Amino acid sequence: MDFYDKNTAASEWKGVDVDHLLSSGARNIGAGSATDAGRFWRLPTEHPDPIVLAGGIPDDTALPVEDIIKGFTNAIENNASDALMYGGWFGYEGCRQAIANRQNRLEGTSLESNNIIMHNGSSGCLENVCKAFIEADDVVIVESPSYSGTVRAIRGFQAEVIEVPMDLNGINVAQFRETIVKLSEQGKRIKLFYTIPDYHNPMGSVTSLDVRRSVLETCARNKIIIAEDAAYTELYYDAPPPPSYYALSNGHGVIKLCSFSKIIATGLRSGWIQAREEFAEPLTKVRFDMGNSPLVHYALTDFIVSGRLEEHVASMRALYRDKCKAMISTLRENCDTYVEVEEPEGGFFLWVECKKGKASELIQASADEGLIFSLGSIFFLDKGIDDNHFRLAFTRPPFEHLDEAGKRLRRAFEKILD
Ligand SMILES: Cc1ncc(COP(=O)(O)O)c(C=O)c1O
Repeated sequence: MDFYDKNTAASEWKGVDVDHLLSSGARNIGAGSATDAGRFWRLPTEHPDPIVLAGGIPDDTALPVEDIIKGFTNAIENNASDALMYGGWFGYEGCRQAIANRQNRLEGTSLESNNIIMHNGSSGCLENVCKAFIEADDVVIVESPSYSGTVRAIRGFQAEVIEVPMDLNGINVAQFRETIVKLSEQGKRIKLFYTIPDYHNPMGSVTSLDVRRSVLETCARNKIIIAEDAAYTELYYDAPPPPSYYALSNGHGVIKLCSFSKIIATGLRSGWIQAREEFAEPLTKVRFDMGNSPLVHYALTDFIVSGRLEEHVASMRALYRDKCKAMISTLRENCDTYVEVEEPEGGFFLWVECKKGKASELIQASADEGLIFSLGSIFFLDKGIDDNHFRLAFTRPPFEHLDEAGKRLRRAFEKILD
């Protein structure tokens, strides 16, 4: 046999273009944004004290660190032989039962532990749904605008993503129905409608009960599965949103994607799918990742069962309501002539419309002023369709940054409009 060492390996692989080896699914995925997942590796500014309103992430000074330490310690000290072993595709049964009980209390559902599948956040839930139900050339309908991470993931499964416009009440139902008729006439197979009904990313809005009912009826008639992304549902400021698609239909035709990322911590990488057994069965069958970490599930179970999660979520609602108010008031004080903004009733985002100027020019001028945020166009498939919106994610930065943000934005507007 020929001698094969590191040098031979290097010369064999030298100059090989890995792009040619990619799957067509991987090639189908568009470029990510520099601020994806809120990690900001390459902030587009040299400013010494940047204010970052880009990623949808919780306030890291308000993480429930003590509770998490307690949960992990307890799991290792008392349940190591289970918590440190493989946990199976569904995840730790005790955690799933605690989640089912909690959801039944919150939503009036009648879930059992087998209706809950633990996952790697809401993103893991979506990937699992795509893996089980999406084939090349299937159509997935999404709201326009929609969360860019999801659209990329769906494209990775070679589905055709079709946008239908939404407004502050949710998707435009008439256009939704027309689109379904048109696509069906073209012989296309529409598998999924992906929606973020509560405190939408990026629009911050809530889908009305009427729209939910119409969408449920239309999807049921056309056998289109609704993938309901509930990442922000619990983070209302005063009153909860209308009942979920899942609760309204008792889960018939609906798979709910839920997450602990926004209510506890993104780094736990934990969430769950809520689904009837006819969906749960194929969803678990296609999983080859050996499930998620039971250690995390044990820690979460403590947090839920002790009642501390409810206290924590209540305090996050109050904190984010105050941050939202601070963000809006700095915009009104400094940029009233330049922007139009709707007050959200929960969640992490303000969807801001420029009354003057182009968002694409504003974002660069703002970066020069040390203010970073996301351009509205990244939330549309057709990046050229919108140049007058941007999204401000206000939950992570301290209040002083929120107060200062309006001033920096005003200076940026003054620069581009001069
Ligand atoms: C609507 C929506 N869904 C899913 C995610 C992903 O969250 P995770 O996988 O951490 O639950 C995000 C993150 O910003 C989001 O905004």
